[in-house]
Formats: sequence, C-alpha cells, structure tokens
Amino acid sequence: MTTALQDCQIKIIQDICKSFGNQAGELINVLHKTQEAFGYLPANVQQLIARELNVSEAKVYGVVTFYAFFTMKPKGKHKISVCMGTACYVRGAEKIVDELKKELNIKVGEITSDGKFSLDCLRCVGACGLAPVMLIGDKVYGRIEPKEVKGILESY
Ligand code: FES
Repeated sequence: MTTALQDCQIKIIQDICKSFGNQAGELINVLHKTQEAFGYLPANVQQLIARELNVSEAKVYGVVTFYAFFTMKPKGKHKISVCMGTACYVRGAEKIVDELKKELNIKVGEITSDGKFSLDCLRCVGACGLAPVMLIGDKVYGRIEPKEVKGILESY
C-alpha cells in the first residue's frame, strides 16, 4: 500500500518531468532531480513518474533498484556510509559498522528515530589507501578505529 502524494509534491514531480520534455529517455535524469527534491524515491513517486513519462512502473522500479545511488528509503540528515570493499573489509570495516549500529541503535539500511543519521554500506569508494573508510555526507573519514566512532558522531 502506498500513501497519496500531496498536491504540491505532485506539482514538483510534474514540473521536473516537464523540464525534461516528459521524455522516456530522460528517466534517469528525472529520477536524479526528483531524488534531489525529496531525498528518496518511494513507490508512489515512481508511479507518478512512470505516468508522466509514459513508461511502465516496472521500468522505473528496475532503474531505481539497479543504480546504487537511488534509494527507496528516506535517509537521515547525515547519511553515514561505510565502505565494505575488500581493502576496507580486511582492515576491519565490519567492526566500524558494529560500533555504529550500537551507538545509533539502528541496523544497516535504517534511519535513527530523530531522523539525524542513516546507516548504509557501500562498495569500494576508491580511497582504499585510507581503509577502513566511512563517509558522513560528503566527508571522508579514513583509517578509523571503532573507538573513534562515538566522538565523530558527537561532532554532528
Ligand atoms: S575498499 Fe574501501 S575504499 Fe576501496
């Protein structure tokens, strides 16, 4: 079951679709802009985009789930991502994730009840020399140890 979109939300999505000429070929660009506006792409938003661009809902869903940068779940004000690529994994990324789960009291893929933080894992972010790597928003924390996690979170 999905909740209904508000009129203002519908208008924003329709305007984004219109700005790309309601072209099916612009689906990825439309999804990017819409995620920028809403933070995530829930089912009801995908349905409206499918209608506006005249493509199937399955196609929109397929694109959203294929690309890691699209998300169907809301994210926290500060989005925490821990790299789980080989170098980071070998150097203890899992322990960083465990510490974050404990401090934030959430699981991977969840958001704290106050909406401040969300926690996700990523594949290699290309900073293997700094393994293990954690990102909060765009800020990169390298060579971190579990004992540093609490202090980092408190600085937000
Ligand atoms: S494996 Fe983590 S940055 Fe490459």
